[in-house]
Amino acid sequence: MVLIAQISDLHVGAFNFREEVLLEAINKINNLNPDLVIVTGDITNNGYYLEYLKAAEYLELIENPMMVVPGNHDARHVGNETFEEVLKHRRSTLTNDKNSLMVIGLDSSEPDLDYGKIGRAQQVWMEKKLEEAYKNNQYKVIALHHHIIPVPKTGRERNVLADAGDVLFSLIKGKADLVISGHKHVPHYWHLENTTFVTAGTVSSLKLRGKDINSFNTYNIQEDAIEIYLNEVQGKRRLMAKYENKCLQK
Ligand SMILES: [Fe+2]
Ligand SMILES: [Fe+2]
Repeated sequence: MVLIAQISDLHVGAFNFREEVLLEAINKINNLNPDLVIVTGDITNNGYYLEYLKAAEYLELIENPMMVVPGNHDARHVGNETFEEVLKHRRSTLTNDKNSLMVIGLDSSEPDLDYGKIGRAQQVWMEKKLEEAYKNNQYKVIALHHHIIPVPKTGRERNVLADAGDVLFSLIKGKADLVISGHKHVPHYWHLENTTFVTAGTVSSLKLRGKDINSFNTYNIQEDAIEIYLNEVQGKRRLMAKYENKCLQK
């Protein structure tokens, strides 16, 4: 069994950023002791250097192996360069202790733009990593900020990846098992072919839709099934979805 926690859209520096909620979420995650923690972007609100330093301080409180990918807000004000200085790689891979799972983290941000794009070079890199993980019988997780499939109740769609169709094709062809994103601050899941696409809510920003409250996702990846949980930071934990694990690795 592998347990992954996903937090997203911290928005450190925003007027509606709630520090106490982020600290509570990190505390809950540390208590869960997941194998990996994935942070899917918008860690800052404006990409400012000082926001990055503050965000890094919070992220250092996470006790388990972690991957961070940038969001559109992080790529403002040369934040794309600051990201590399403060947090290192904008795209990377991460495996669990047993090496049974590979997370492939992508940079979908474009400097000073809100829409997302993977780009041809990064897409080829992703395809190679998926192939490598497939050969190693690893469970394949893709992490990126922007959603690839539109999310309900998020108004007029204008922020899916500019190259969503091409990336989607590569993900299905490469037999990705799980694709996790943030960006819209709305938790949702889709299942297409054998791939599950999940978006997370915002963990610590008040930019919320309707009666949503701050949350993070956890993924319980078992031999026969994957369970996706929505964890409200100051509320309940509930099962969002459960799917059969079709990955070859058992
Ligand atoms: Fe966001
Ligand atoms: Fe975003």
